[in-house]
Amino acid sequence: MTKMVTYKELGFKNTEKMFKVALKRKFAIPGYNINNLEQLQAIINGCGKSESPVIIQISKGARSYANEIMLRYLGQGGVKMAKSLGFDIPIALHLDHGDSYELCKSCIDSGFSSVMYDGSHLNYEENVKITKRVVDYAHQKDVSVEAELGVLAGIEEHVEATEHEYTDPEMVKDFVERTGCDSLAIAIGTSHGAYKFKVDKAEDIPELRFDILKEVKKRLGDYPIVLHGSSSVLREYVAIINEYGGSLKKAFGIPEEQLRKATKYGVSKINIDTDGRLVFTAMIRKNLFENPEVFDPRKYLGPAREELIKMIMRKNEEVLGSANQAKYF
Ligand code: G3H
Ligand code: 13P
Ligand code: ZN
Repeated sequence: MTKMVTYKELGFKNTEKMFKVALKRKFAIPGYNINNLEQLQAIINGCGKSESPVIIQISKGARSYANEIMLRYLGQGGVKMAKSLGFDIPIALHLDHGDSYELCKSCIDSGFSSVMYDGSHLNYEENVKITKRVVDYAHQKDVSVEAELGVLAGIEEHVEATEHEYTDPEMVKDFVERTGCDSLAIAIGTSHGAYKFKVDKAEDIPELRFDILKEVKKRLGDYPIVLHGSSSVLREYVAIINEYGGSLKKAFGIPEEQLRKATKYGVSKINIDTDGRLVFTAMIRKNLFENPEVFDPRKYLGPAREELIKMIMRKNEEVLGSANQAKYF
């Protein structure tokens, strides 16, 4: 059992308070996932240079890949590194897709600013019950909770859904009131991973269900809404991966124009993991191919990290509207 520590002691910010600023100023805070050192360095540099607040996300899979203690201290190292580089940006640490009360509690006790309890695959009453249990514990520790209603197609932390189950706007008010959750992830047509649509070309990608988003906002007002599965599966990196020996066929994501629209309609947090993975893989493949003599990991991880910084800065500046917002926190 590790020592209990609060997010404040580790230097993280209160996620709930960050949402208040995002709602007021009408932009989306990026939720970027980390699994290793280089991803974290890229996030700190990318968000620091673009002066964007950031929510660093750790999934259950990331915890088992990198070790939960290692990742938590990596996050704390990120806060200290940001300060040492002169970046004055708010940074929150968030559990992504927590699948049990116990996992959420463990993260709350070990210094996370917020946790997601994802009960979207459960029946409604069960989702309410466990989410509320997580909220009751989290709020005692000043930690906020993201919940989910509606199921994203694809794989959600080992739960596979072949079809979208769009969020029913009629249920959101009851859910938020009964659980006390602080933000809500909704299903409006996004999904996880690199294969979000069964289409042959980008022009055939359907629109997200903005009608549902609008109805949800109507019922919840100024309340933080989260979009998962929001990578755009950037064409240039898919092309590099395929050119240098990879095989990503018919990989399509959410067009950035649609994400801009979602932000305008009041989405307060946008989760991006796959795009970062694609950047990394593309640059590593290209670099190793072009420099077959290289065997020092820094020689290929370094350029991948640099490219990820660029991608993050561009997302913050051109898609989420989070660039230059850090000064308002
Ligand atoms: O939404 C899922 C995130 O992309 C995390 O993925 O469970 O493979 O770490 P993961
Ligand atoms: P992507 O797979 O679209 O990047 O979604 C990431 C996500 O939702 C993390 O929770
Ligand atoms: Zn997600």
